[in-house]
Amino acid sequence: MSKRVAILISGSGSNMVSLIKSMTGDHPARPVLVLSNDPEAAGLAKARALNVPTLAIDHKPFGRDRAGFEAELHRALSTARPDIICLAGFMRILTPEFIKKWDGKMLNIHPSLLPKYKGLHTHARALAAGDSEHGCSVHEVTAELDGGPVLGQARIAIQPDDTPETLAARLLPLEHQLYAAVLRKYAIGDRSQVTVSA
Ligand code: GAR
Repeated sequence: MSKRVAILISGSGSNMVSLIKSMTGDHPARPVLVLSNDPEAAGLAKARALNVPTLAIDHKPFGRDRAGFEAELHRALSTARPDIICLAGFMRILTPEFIKKWDGKMLNIHPSLLPKYKGLHTHARALAAGDSEHGCSVHEVTAELDGGPVLGQARIAIQPDDTPETLAARLLPLEHQLYAAVLRKYAIGDRSQVTVSA
């Protein structure tokens, strides 16, 4: 039986597309749902074009009612019955209560070499710190923001003329490789570290 994978997005969904395209042939998992908190997210059309069911649950009408938004999210996911939930550019912070419900099933990709630069603006922060290398990490989601066990990382060298934009552009293809490689292993219970280099 293939593992069922739900992918949560907020934007362009390039990591989501790469994950979906990886789940073919003898891959141990298959995509069952792409869900966005933004009905306008460009990724939704890309998922539909790949014949994956999509759903949007707009967080805005919920205002500060995070529990209300998460209840809807939980309902939708419970219907889709995923074995694994991949956060792929999903830009809402999830509460510990929600995360507990899907404990041990949720992965995230973060554009930094964790534990460095949890949160936002990771490329700018790596540059401001004068780092010589940068990268991305796939980790298990726990109650601590961007703090769960790291399952794999990809690294790039920072060049003197790099900007946040050039770093992001150089890193993205490695994010795609890394996330797909981690998911393939995670789906068979293999949590050994994955390393990808440019
Ligand atoms: C990716 O760079 C991902 O690492 C980042 O958002 C981008 C989404 O791009 N995620 C975060 O910053 C999470 N805190 P995509 O929609 O094209 O996959």
